Amino acid sequence: MRNHVMAGNWKMNKTFSEAVELASGLAAELKGGVGDVDVIVAPPAVDLKGVAEVIEQEQAPFALSAQNVYFEESGAYTGETSPSMLESVGATYCIIGHSERRGYFGETDEDVNKKAKKLMEHGIVPISCCGESLEVREAGKHVEFVCDQVRRDTEGLDLSDPSKYIIAYEPIWAIGTGKTATADDAEEVCGAIRRTLAEVFGQETADGVRILYGGSAKPGNVGGFLEKDDVDGALVGGASLKADSFAEMVRAAM
Ligand code: G3P
Repeated sequence: MRNHVMAGNWKMNKTFSEAVELASGLAAELKGGVGDVDVIVAPPAVDLKGVAEVIEQEQAPFALSAQNVYFEESGAYTGETSPSMLESVGATYCIIGHSERRGYFGETDEDVNKKAKKLMEHGIVPISCCGESLEVREAGKHVEFVCDQVRRDTEGLDLSDPSKYIIAYEPIWAIGTGKTATADDAEEVCGAIRRTLAEVFGQETADGVRILYGGSAKPGNVGGFLEKDDVDGALVGGASLKADSFAEMVRAAM
């Protein structure tokens, strides 16, 4: 069956020294081990190498993720980062399709699909985000909307090893707002995502893909999400910016 994943998305919130300090603090907090939980931290791109060095030096029980990637190997793409560059600094995961990139930078499902394919060619695990706006939810169309996103985001992917692809359901109206979806809300959509994966890729793959919840997840509410059959962990923003609170969430997943 599926083990839990606890991933921290630091977004654009840590300068180099702050990122190194947070990584060191988290390593200390998790010295006792993390059981079979896959713990992942996603610092800003400029901090990746520094955090990778902390993980190495302190034998920290967490892996490194980027927050974005471009779907070309190299070339005239000012400001972008390629999968091989992520590989070169030790990133083994990469968040793609976050609603903030879709909203602010016009990222499409087609872009997300291309990014996933490129990352998987490099052996990097995509953490592919999906989620609806408040308007879509209030119209009762959230399940249909998210499942359509997942179909487009996964089109043509090789998910024969389902451990190499992670989905994060993040209702946009719950991100950074303090307004959290209920555990039942999360289970409703994560269950629908799993059924969609079963339709497209078969039940074995659907049963193996980890599906996370993200959106104001915190130490006080993460346990409720983790109890749900189809919720395999959390993608955490604000609460991952403090080592003690994120470590508490990791322990809740053990
Ligand atoms: O990617 C995780 C993020 O979007 C959730 O943010 O601050 O609501 O936990 P937050």
